[in-house]
Order: sequence, then structure tokens, then C-alpha cells
Amino acid sequence: MEVLDEGNEDEPELEQVGEGDEDIALVGGLECAEANEAAIKLARLYGHRRGIELPTLVVTEASFHGRTLATLTATGNRKVQAGFEPLMRGFIRVPYGDAEALRVVARNAGEVVAVLVEPVQGEGGVNIPPPDYLNRVREICDTHGWLMMLDEIQTGLGRTGRLFAHQHNGILPDVMTLAKSLGNGVPIGACLARGEAAGLFGPGAHGSTFGGNPLACRAALTVLQIMERDGLVARSAALGARLLALHRPVAQFEIRQPARSRFGAGCATNALDVNRAVQSATAAALRAIQVVNKVAKAEA
Ligand SMILES: Cc1ncc(COP(=O)(O)O)c(C=O)c1O
Repeated sequence: MEVLDEGNEDEPELEQVGEGDEDIALVGGLECAEANEAAIKLARLYGHRRGIELPTLVVTEASFHGRTLATLTATGNRKVQAGFEPLMRGFIRVPYGDAEALRVVARNAGEVVAVLVEPVQGEGGVNIPPPDYLNRVREICDTHGWLMMLDEIQTGLGRTGRLFAHQHNGILPDVMTLAKSLGNGVPIGACLARGEAAGLFGPGAHGSTFGGNPLACRAALTVLQIMERDGLVARSAALGARLLALHRPVAQFEIRQPARSRFGAGCATNALDVNRAVQSATAAALRAIQVVNKVAKAEA
């Protein structure tokens, strides 16, 4: 999978995280929940293309996917949903980290088209699933022709010590959403799809006025460039390991410590590094826009 499209020479190097996947679709949106909305829409298109009338997504307890109607329905937290009923149809919820529960769904529900899951649950309490959970999810999705959709909005871009958290498992999802650290403060979300899922959105099927706008995309490219230039993913892994080592002597008194042990604790420091550079890139982009406007006014 190529994370970035080819661009001019000041664009970052392509990041290879898989092989042989030429069909990559990247849909840009303005924010986190919008990236997941795109993923949910993709899953439904995928289902309808297979003649499934009520395409159903499997989601998990304690998950968080956003606060739009579709994403709050996918979210496994009643507080986020309360007051906004009726929720949407087409979702089945299973316990997080429980691959067996997915197998039960597969035996009993005929209309499932996708699983949407976080590699590590963030808002739900930094819950780390069993180490082979994502591998089992991948296997089940392959067996039943479901899309494996990973919400890496919280875990992506170095936050677990790898560029993407699913790389710890050596698997590839069919669909992946990114946001948060992608813009490092500038609002941008992205939904990436490969294989069959990459060809589902035809022209006009998804979009928004400000989706893919040059300012936000420039900021995201700058974030990726800096992450690559400064080796921030490796730094995240190294700092995470150091912080965990410091934390260990007191960890015996803390029940939740194991649940935090895969988080690249270097991420906060990295965010500061990137933030400074993104601020100046954004300022430069804004200046450029002002210049364009001045020229346009002068011409008018
Ligand atoms: C995993 C995950 N997905 C989606 C979202 C939605 O983000 P937002 O509320 O910014 O739309 C969040 C926010 O914390 C998140 O952690």
C-alpha cells in the first residue's frame, strides 16, 4: 500500500507498507468522523454491489468512531448516543478483542459486509486487544468476504511505535481511516481503501466543499515529510520504550499498566516537534493564498 501519491520532489518519499496493491483510493475529508463516515459508506456500497439489502457492519463495545449519526451509531458508548435516537440500522456490536464473538456473528448473521475496529481503543480506555486479535479479524474477514476496516484515527502515524498500529500484526486492512495527527492541528481526515474497496466510490459518490482543500493537504504532507525526515516513528518507539521502562517500577501498583504497554509514548513529544513546523507551513500557505487573492483583485 502506498500511503502517499507520487508528487513533486518536495513531497515526501513514498512509504511502503505493503506490496502489490496498485488500487489505492484516498478520500480526503475535513475531520475525523467524516473519514469514518466515508468508510461506512464504502462498506454499504460494497454490500449493495453483492446484492445485500441491509449491509451490516460489525462494531465493538467501548469503541469510539465519532459523533455524526452513522459514527455515533458505530460508537460503543451510550453517552455518545443518548438523545440522538433513532440510531441507524445495519450495525451489530460484539465485545472488543473477542475474535470468537465475530465467528458467532459469521455463523448467525447473513448480511455482514465489514468489521470496523480500532487496533487499540483510545477513548474507550486505551484497551489493547490480545496480540493476535487483528490477525484473527483478518482471517475471519477473508473467510467471509468482509471488508476489514481499521479506524487508525487515534493509533495511526507513529502513535504505537509503528507508522500504523496494524503493522505490529503484519496484516493489511482493506480500509483504513486517519485524521488527528495527520494534520497535527489542521483539520483533515482521510479514508484509504485498497483492492475491491478502492474502486467503489465513483465520481460524486462522496465529497464535500472543503474536502481535500490545498491548505489542509499541504499541512498533512508537511506532517508526513517531517515524520519521515526526522525519523519520528522510530523516535516514538524509542521514547515509548524508555517511558515504559521508567514506568515499570511503579507499574505493579497500577492495574491498568499492561493495557498501556503498546502505546508509543513518544507521540506527545513528536507532536510538539511537528506542530512547530506545521504552524510555519500553514502560515506560508495562508500567505500564498493572500498573494493569490491580491493578484486576482489586481487583475479584476
Ligand atoms: C478512534 C477514533 N475515531 C474517531 C474519532 C472521532 O473524532 P472527532 O470527534 O474529532 O470527529 C476519535 C476521536 O477521538 C477517535 O479516537
